[in-house]
Amino acid sequence: RKVALVTGGYTGEAEISFKSSAFVHEQLDSERYEIYPITIALDSWFHVNEAGVKIPVNREDFSLTIGEHIVRFDVALIMLHGTPGEDGRLQGYFDMIGLPYTSCGALTSALTMNKGYTKAILADIPKLHIAKSVLLFEAHRAQAVEMVERTLSLPYFVKPNAGGSSIGMTKVKERAELPVALDKAFDAANTGHQVLVEEFVTGREFSQGVFRNAAGELIVLPATEVRTTREFFDFEAKYIPGLTEEITPADLTTEQQERAAQIIQEIYVRLNCRGMIRVDFFLEKGTNKFYFIEINTIPGQTAQSFIPQQVRAYGMKEGDFYAELIEAALT
Ligand code: DAL
Ligand code: MG
Repeated sequence: RKVALVTGGYTGEAEISFKSSAFVHEQLDSERYEIYPITIALDSWFHVNEAGVKIPVNREDFSLTIGEHIVRFDVALIMLHGTPGEDGRLQGYFDMIGLPYTSCGALTSALTMNKGYTKAILADIPKLHIAKSVLLFEAHRAQAVEMVERTLSLPYFVKPNAGGSSIGMTKVKERAELPVALDKAFDAANTGHQVLVEEFVTGREFSQGVFRNAAGELIVLPATEVRTTREFFDFEAKYIPGLTEEITPADLTTEQQERAAQIIQEIYVRLNCRGMIRVDFFLEKGTNKFYFIEINTIPGQTAQSFIPQQVRAYGMKEGDFYAELIEAALT
């Protein structure tokens, strides 16, 4: 099989995409799959061959012309976080040219990239709670502080509505910090210039993957609990080893595990997901309620990321897991 391992992207998460794709490349069986990393940058799409030569992608069919030879791919393994690999753009393009790919489709990808819209869609999922929030558009910028203070109580999480890896995000504990946090989030907002301000949920933070295997079964991976010494699970906590304690499988009661699995499967089905997704949530202290944070349709696969840990805890080799995603995309 010829696999296009798609990486890069237009946002600050591109560096994470390169780490994720390198990890996936390492794990996949090279006897079984012929893998070509393809970088998507704003100005060019290309593959770098073993001699270090940059080969542009033919955009009408995503093939490569290497000398006399044309490489046509069987499948695209998308490992690009943020725009344009996690927000439906590449998915729509691959649909148009008929190239199978490993992620959710265009609509689901575009929807879940927008945290505020996703919260609205998931509001009636049984046993899932949604923290109060305000979705702000660029046109609201002048009244943003007033809009937030009228609706929410401190502390708040302020984040770009379509971001990832906590880039541009602030936990606001005092009123005076709000304007700076809003500016930071608006400036970091990649798509649509929207900012989401949410009420803070006090409790434990979890992240849990689910995927459909090549046989069509939906498999919920063990959850990970995140305990960080920082204010919240920010960019540094996510990618600098040692700042965060990650417990996989998480210490949850049987009832909590079953409830989380039910919620995650229901999300997967209702949003018509494909491939793997990872759902992040809080378990509120005192109430035992699960609160939704977000869905990642291209969850990170760096050596520090959760999905590889969860796959190992499930008893599977990472390479076999990525192979399942490829084979599922081809069925
Ligand atoms: N957005 C990062 C890559 C993640 O969800 O893992
Ligand atoms: Mg994310």
